[in-house]
Amino acid sequence: MYQTVIILDFGGQYKELIARRVRELGVYSEIWPCDTPLEKIRAANPIGVIFTGGPDNVYAPDAPACDRGVFELGVPVLGICYGMQFMCHSLGGQVSPCDKSEYGVVDTRLTGESRFFGDLDKAQRVLMSHTDYVSAAPEGFIVTAQTSLCPAAAMECPQRNLYAVQFHPEVENTVNGKPMLRRFLYEICGATGDYNMNDYLEREMEAVRAQVGDKRVLLGLSGGVDSSVCAALLSRAIPGRLTCIYIDHGFMRKNETEEVRAAFAGRALDLRIIDASEQFLKALEGVTDPEEKRKRIGREFVRAFEKAARDCGNPSFLAQGTIYPDVVESGSKNKSAVIKSHHNVGGLPKDMSFEGVVEPLRGLFKDEVRALGRMLGLPKTLVERQPFPGPGLAIRVIGEVTCERLHILREADAIVREEIRRSRVKADQYFCVLTNVRSVGVMGDFRTYDYTLAIRAVRTNDFMTCEYARLPHTLLSRMSTRITNEVQGVNRVVYDITGKPPATIEWE
Ligand code: XMP
Repeated sequence: MYQTVIILDFGGQYKELIARRVRELGVYSEIWPCDTPLEKIRAANPIGVIFTGGPDNVYAPDAPACDRGVFELGVPVLGICYGMQFMCHSLGGQVSPCDKSEYGVVDTRLTGESRFFGDLDKAQRVLMSHTDYVSAAPEGFIVTAQTSLCPAAAMECPQRNLYAVQFHPEVENTVNGKPMLRRFLYEICGATGDYNMNDYLEREMEAVRAQVGDKRVLLGLSGGVDSSVCAALLSRAIPGRLTCIYIDHGFMRKNETEEVRAAFAGRALDLRIIDASEQFLKALEGVTDPEEKRKRIGREFVRAFEKAARDCGNPSFLAQGTIYPDVVESGSKNKSAVIKSHHNVGGLPKDMSFEGVVEPLRGLFKDEVRALGRMLGLPKTLVERQPFPGPGLAIRVIGEVTCERLHILREADAIVREEIRRSRVKADQYFCVLTNVRSVGVMGDFRTYDYTLAIRAVRTNDFMTCEYARLPHTLLSRMSTRITNEVQGVNRVVYDITGKPPATIEWE
């Protein structure tokens, strides 16, 4: 196994960012709940442990905590934000509420010899976000950085290999965050940098071969990044023994099915493209409620998939493109309200029986999956594809889904995607929504009574929140002109200028 850094999760929003930074630096990392038993941590033999931040106060009755034995493992520990306060409190120091909370990028002064900072400049710009601070460091610790509001912005006890920072070295706003983490990993934890995608690929292919022996594997291929990379990996690991089922529910974007077919042509897999569009359209007849649409599509999908699986002789193993954030999420205790019932190709029939599940991307973050996809020779269109909801265009046609309305949306959407891509403006996801509003217009000398189409383009890092993208007016008017000229049935185009919250990214 790789040298591993364990990230103990105290509830901070940047936990995945920390794990990704560590991996980018060539060291494998995993996120574990902070109350993971000490024995499990010891057994993993980590080269270092990092505590994340978190929203709590260390003195609160249910404040998240880890086994204090972590400090005695003899492994370097880095506490970040709440992690620093937890370390301080656990080891006999004092944490107090700030007179004035400190949020944003601030100047920090390094105050002397520090194993953590090494020979970095004394003046550093760092991102702070805290309402409590270390008012008295534990015995044996020295304070190594200060800001005007925070007398202990960093502290360390090199004899015990314990280090802590009040700021966030994992975010880009902390200008030298990466060198700091690099130093922690390589100088303090003794990392050798043994983690890279080439190696990951070799190891996973070996693991898949060992798991499935000479049996056959079934994969639901959606054309999304994860299932596509999974298919490419498996076709290389077990050539000729992978069957991929691509259910065309008829709600795909323009040319999408053909692009998938082309991307996998010539690979050692059996790709079955099932045209189930009639079945799906029929299931949505007369349905206008968004949740009902999602549920019916999910149900139809299971049916179509089961049939296709039977038709290819029910392979023994089911492959899924599960990735690491899904694994971390399902292990987290936080339960949130259902806003939308997501339909994913991953959410397959519960009562189909398989000998086992193959998930070769389970250890990877999205950017690592993309890197792997590039290594496996998948085209850019697939590897860099924006998220596309499982129910497809059906949840972008507001109101009843019909062939005609899907056609209008598909054509308009192709124009919007082409124009935005070509303009190179920054937007992380962009598409069209066909509303159920019709309004009066004039074309030539005639009155029209056609649909209003909405363009949506957003900036986001994690798709949990977003801002609308500030598209230039020249681009907006070009799209509007093209759509009203080229797509019959639309006489009005609007731009959605809402963030999430309060809106969601998709309209349904
Ligand atoms: P919302 O609309 O919830 O979308 O703000 C957040 C992100 O998730 C995508 N999305 C889905 N992805 N199955 C998926 O795989 C779904 O049912 C689904 N619904 C929304 C959406 O495109 C955005 O990127």
